[in-house]
Amino acid sequence: MRRIAPSLLAADFGNLQREMEWFNASQADLLHLDVMDGVFVPNISFGFPVIEHVARLTDKPLDIHLMVVEPQRWINPVRDLGAHIMNVHVEACTHLHRTIQQIHEAGMLAAISLNPSTPISAVEEVLTDADIIMVMTVNPGFGAQPFIHASLNKIARLKQRIRELGTDTLVEVDGGVNRTTAALLRDVDVDIFVTGSAVFGKPDPAQEVAALKQLVNE
Ligand code: DX5
Ligand code: ZN
Repeated sequence: MRRIAPSLLAADFGNLQREMEWFNASQADLLHLDVMDGVFVPNISFGFPVIEHVARLTDKPLDIHLMVVEPQRWINPVRDLGAHIMNVHVEACTHLHRTIQQIHEAGMLAAISLNPSTPISAVEEVLTDADIIMVMTVNPGFGAQPFIHASLNKIARLKQRIRELGTDTLVEVDGGVNRTTAALLRDVDVDIFVTGSAVFGKPDPAQEVAALKQLVNE
């Protein structure tokens, strides 16, 4: 079953409790949380106190996407939030293999993200260690940007390489996912779909999640 991960970045921050009510009642599989430091990406989002608050409002697993330099410094704080997935950028990790090991030792799944300009060869040596490879389909830092179509070929090559290796590494995508692009991403066999602006702000976000979930599992 392919999974849908709404991204809180697009939520109404003045009404987080209400946002989490529809989220909990929806078919969403994961909650995607974007942490930005203003250095790795040209924007700052929210930090640990906000995530602690949100984490208390849901039992669904958390996917914490760290768009920060030196993400290995935050492994224990992310674990303490109760995160299911710690999601770090390959571009931010000098010792990626060690970081994956430490994320596993902390009891979390390791997701490794690639910026649009980063080739899939950057994760070749850790494809069997990582649990998830997340292909950014926009440049990270902002919601509601247009989907980069060249990502489809990149994802198809990544999936092919994973099949060749015979590992069960999942492929996640983040950025510009809506009903149109989700169908294209389903066709290249993406496993986890992050979606922000296409879901939050819709008159019935839970219904939009249900529509996306059905579409990607057709
Ligand atoms: C962008 C974030 C995304 C963002 C996606 O840097 O990593 O998770 O929330 O937003 P949409 O779906 O609106 O492109
Ligand atoms: Zn994200």
